[in-house]
Amino acid sequence: MYVVTGATGQLGRLVIEALLKTIPADRIVAAVRDPAKGKDLAERGVIIREADYSRPETLGPALAGVEKLLLISSTEVSGRLPRHRAVIDAAKQAGVSLIAYTSMLHADTSPAMLAVEHRQTEEVIAASGLPAVILRNGWYTENHLMALPMALEHGAFVGAAKDGRFSSAARRDYADAAAKVLTTEGHAGKTYELAADQAFTLAELASELSRQSGKAVVYNDLSEDAYREVLTSAGLPPDLAGLLADADVAASRGALFDDSGALGRLIGRQTTLLQSMVATTLRG
Ligand SMILES: NC(=O)c1ccc[n+]([C@@H]2O[C@H](COP(=O)([O-])OP(=O)(O)OC[C@H]3O[C@@H](n4cnc5c(N)ncnc54)[C@H](OP(=O)(O)O)[C@@H]3O)[C@@H](O)[C@H]2O)c1
Repeated sequence: MYVVTGATGQLGRLVIEALLKTIPADRIVAAVRDPAKGKDLAERGVIIREADYSRPETLGPALAGVEKLLLISSTEVSGRLPRHRAVIDAAKQAGVSLIAYTSMLHADTSPAMLAVEHRQTEEVIAASGLPAVILRNGWYTENHLMALPMALEHGAFVGAAKDGRFSSAARRDYADAAAKVLTTEGHAGKTYELAADQAFTLAELASELSRQSGKAVVYNDLSEDAYREVLTSAGLPPDLAGLLADADVAASRGALFDDSGALGRLIGRQTTLLQSMVATTLRG
């Protein structure tokens, strides 16, 4: 049996889709905070179990009988470690044969504040003694593309990444990698730095958007404080805005760049091109 936590999230759903290509639905457990959100998956034969990282009593039953577990990192930034630890403890109790964890690119050396809880979670997994595979996911291209309507409206992308290169990949690429390590052998003990085959600066992203939309879009590089202000005034909670502005600064120092090619090798195909994702987003 295979279990995916956070399975009603955007990444989790894509992992379930990828698993369904090779694994019968009745061997896949979608472990979810709110079972009502998993109704469509249940209708397709996927087993739905409640698993709330904040309610450890739900985690043992959710992992009963499971062999391979994908722990998708929590969205509750700055409070993730105890939640992740609760899942890892439950995995140990359940005797899983493999735990895969969605960490962050170069989590061991990254200067980004977002990397701290990932690094700590990796340490808890290592100390658990469970066979583990660490999926150090790069930035999602979808993160950049969320700003696309605003960029078209104002003729500018804003950020604080200077000319830092982002090896951002599609969520689907990372999901396929997660499904691959769960369903094929030889991954225990490995750490994969997962990033796209191509990298781009935010100025190159703006230029690609201009090319495809026919509208002039530039990249305006801001100070970290000014970018945090922009994000806060766009409605992001101050903590998250601070973490994202800090991540851009880290990106200016190369933290979100990687050219190892590990993601493409793992999924056995080229990673999704930025050009095609911009085109899909513009089509709406
Ligand atoms: N690499 C990147 O660029 C990047 C960007 C954003 C996030 N991330 C990380 O990747 C993870 C997955 O991303 P995503 O895009 O799939 O995020 P998402 O769509 O927001 O999904 C997050 C999932 O986590 C679940 N969740 C949140 N708190 C939980 C809790 N206490 N117990 C159990 N489940 C909980 C949510 O449950 P509900 O469905 O009930 O809401 C949701 O299913 C994020 O959680 C974050 O750690 C990475």
